[in-house]
Parts: sequence; structure tokens; C-alpha cells
Amino acid sequence: MPDAALALPRLIAHRGLSAQAPENTLAAVRAAHAAGVGWVELDVQLLGDGTPVIWHDAGLRRCSDRRGRLADLDLAAARRLDAGGWFGEAFKGEPMATLEAMLALLDELDMGVNLELKVNRGRDPRALVAAALPAVMEALPPARRLLSSFNDAALAHTRALAGPEALSLGVLFEGVGRAWRSRCEAVEACSVHADWKRLKAPRAREVSEAGYRLLCYTANDPAAFAPRWAWGVDAVISDDPPRFMG
Ligand code: G3P
Ligand code: MG
Repeated sequence: MPDAALALPRLIAHRGLSAQAPENTLAAVRAAHAAGVGWVELDVQLLGDGTPVIWHDAGLRRCSDRRGRLADLDLAAARRLDAGGWFGEAFKGEPMATLEAMLALLDELDMGVNLELKVNRGRDPRALVAAALPAVMEALPPARRLLSSFNDAALAHTRALAGPEALSLGVLFEGVGRAWRSRCEAVEACSVHADWKRLKAPRAREVSEAGYRLLCYTANDPAAFAPRWAWGVDAVISDDPPRFMG
């Protein structure tokens, strides 16, 4: 349902400003801020020792100098990892961000976050929510936090733990199928997050006219994306939001 408390912008930087800095790092969030983008989408998962960190993949290889699984890493090992050098020399030594450090930065910069509860194969959605949610609720006001997931168990547990506190939830879809609304109603979501390439105009209008916020990921070509604004899309999640400005 519509959530008046949420100050959702038109542009959200996907995994931070990931076109200009290594994804999901503090540097990527600083880059978004420097570019005038006030909101970021970030993925949160747990290390093997239960520490929530900002990371997308199940594995370490693509975005660090280590191999192996995130689930096998503890915080001490995570602190020794380089999460920036793969992107470019200038980012060598950039750490993997803990959720705690990331929330402190978002607070310092007055930024908003669409935090995606990323439940990769074999991971426990309830443990993730139990570890991440209290920190998010504590650090950021309702206007600047939107939690989302592809995983319905994670969303349900989030809603249950939030209790009466204001908390905006979004449901992530690859294709937004006919049953989209029941997924949203089950967790009292206020937003639908759709793959922009798969979204069709009639469904977009249906979502928007039902009062839900409609966000599209991950669009990087403003001209190709342009017709969708008239379908009722509220926000675009992009690796490179500055391309959509001006
Ligand atoms: O939250 C939007 C988008 O990030 C979902 O897909 O794989 O980039 O996390 P992914
Ligand atoms: Mg994501």
C-alpha cells in the first residue's frame, strides 16, 4: 500500500554509483553522493560469523582479491580482503563494507537506501533479517529506508519483526506476473521493484493505479527507458544515474 512516509526519489544508484566505483562499497556510496544522487540500492548478506555485510554474490571472486564463499568468511578475514582493486587501481584496498559502517556513512551523508535482503542459495532468510533489521531501524528514519527482496520469507520475517514500527517494504520481481498483488499484500509492501526489460505497460499501469510505488531495475540507457515514465514508474535504479539527469 502507498506509504506517505517514504521520501522516494526518481533516481537510485544501483549498488552505489557502480559505474564509477566498485559496487556495494563505501566508495560507491560516496561517489553517488558526490554526483548528487541521494539514494542508493545496496545488497546485504551475512558472513559466516553472522556479521551483516554489503555484498551481492554468494562468492568472493568477482568483486575481490579472494576466492571462496561469503558464507565461509569471518569478519577478521573480511577485513583483510580488497574489494576495490578489481575495479581499478584507484580503489585498491577498499574494504568490504559492514552494514554497520555503511549505515553510519548513509547517516552522515543524509542519504536514503533501498536495502535488498539478498538471500543466495542455501542461506537463511530469517537469520539475515534478525541481524540486519534492528541496525537499519536504529540508523535511518522511515523516510530514508526501503527494504526489498526477491525472497518472500525474508520479507515476511521483516514485517513480523518490525511490528508496529513504520517500515516500507518492496517486493522484487523478475517478471511482474498476474499474482503480483498477493505477494505485496502478504507483507504489506508499498512498492513493486521490476526488471525494466520485462515490464509491460498494462502491468505497470495496473501497479501504479493500485497505489503502489513502481521502481525499475537496472536501467542504464535513458533514451530506451524514457517511455516507461509515462506508465507510472516512480523511480529508476541505475548503475549510472547521472546519465538520467539534466
Ligand atoms: O534491487 C534491484 C536489483 O539490485 C535486483 O537485482 O541482482 O542486481 O541485486 P540484483
Ligand atoms: Mg540488488
